[in-house]
Amino acid sequence: MHILILGAAGMVGRKLTERLLREGRLGKADITRMTLQDVVAPAKPDKAGFPVDTATCDFAVPGAAEKLVADRPDVIFHLAAIVSGEAELDFDKGYRINLDGTRMLFDAVRLAGGGYKPRVVFTSSIAVFGAPFPEAIGDEFFHTPLLSYGTQKAIGELLLADYSRRGFMDGIGIRLPTICIRPGLPNKAASGFFSNILREPLAGKEAVLPVSEDVRHWHASPRSAVGFLLHAATMDSAAAGARRNLSMPGLSATVGEEIAALKRVAGEKVASRIKRTPDPFIMGIVDGWPRNFEAKRAVQLGFTTAEKTFDDIIRIHIEDELGGKFVA
Ligand SMILES: NC(=O)c1ccc[n+]([C@@H]2O[C@H](COP(=O)([O-])OP(=O)(O)OC[C@H]3O[C@@H](n4cnc5c(N)ncnc54)[C@H](O)[C@@H]3O)[C@@H](O)[C@H]2O)c1
Repeated sequence: MHILILGAAGMVGRKLTERLLREGRLGKADITRMTLQDVVAPAKPDKAGFPVDTATCDFAVPGAAEKLVADRPDVIFHLAAIVSGEAELDFDKGYRINLDGTRMLFDAVRLAGGGYKPRVVFTSSIAVFGAPFPEAIGDEFFHTPLLSYGTQKAIGELLLADYSRRGFMDGIGIRLPTICIRPGLPNKAASGFFSNILREPLAGKEAVLPVSEDVRHWHASPRSAVGFLLHAATMDSAAAGARRNLSMPGLSATVGEEIAALKRVAGEKVASRIKRTPDPFIMGIVDGWPRNFEAKRAVQLGFTTAEKTFDDIIRIHIEDELGGKFVA
């Protein structure tokens, strides 16, 4: 099986690559080749049981997607995107990459011909929903994005469903919760603070909390995100019917509950490294964000999370990223 990952140098892309390299299989199939694509050079693995190519390019320029699908990868993970904060600040860039690029990719698959019909896994976002919404968003709730990013993801979902209905590809879209704790450096996502206020204090550094502690949001660990992607790549897509875009399970927690979990797992001193500096730009964005979900369809279709509590989310970070230790 040949796997192509677009956005492979990103946070989720790196985690997915690591897991696939470690397991050497996707579902029941042995991996025979992997292509890692990103606009930033993806790291070439030191050791792999199969050939791994890297492609450093912008997938959203005319002709790029055709080259990427020319060798007919069996599974395509489309993770490449401009994230929420940047897509809001740079309208043209967000639409060019998140919308035009996605359409170009899907068209490259469609036009490859010869019965080519790969599984395409697309990472959508809960930003396709906007306030006002019920306390817990069910599977029947409609798209009302309040950000350009959410609008671009919502259009991507529609394209994925239509291209799949027409038989051009076999797509599954997964609406990821906000991934927490995001490892590495902060990115330009407006949701970054949910992770920063945990990751930085655990590393002995101060972090800024730009919103109030009663802000509630929907989260999942990076370990869960990789699990969702693998399941989306291997599940029976027919079971999803025409509704191929699914809200993923997660954990609903307030910022205050996150901080309480940090105190329980790492202690008061670590939590005291959080500094409160309200930021009206971030507060304005977060105000219209979903707080809680009832992700029944995804659960019925076999998607599961790696954590049961927010304490688990913090422990997973300490285990997976910090070698089991943090700065007390
Ligand atoms: N992390 C989250 O909380 C979260 C939540 C919901 C949805 N998502 C979605 O999941 C996916 C992965 O998220 P992430 O957290 O790893 O983001 P990330 O920003 O870490 O990674 C995205 C990658 O896409 C690459 N990229 C951007 N434009 C590109 C282009 N034109 N050509 C090639 N590569 C390009 C970037 O260089 C980056 O490495 C994204 O589609 C994102 O929208 C993430």
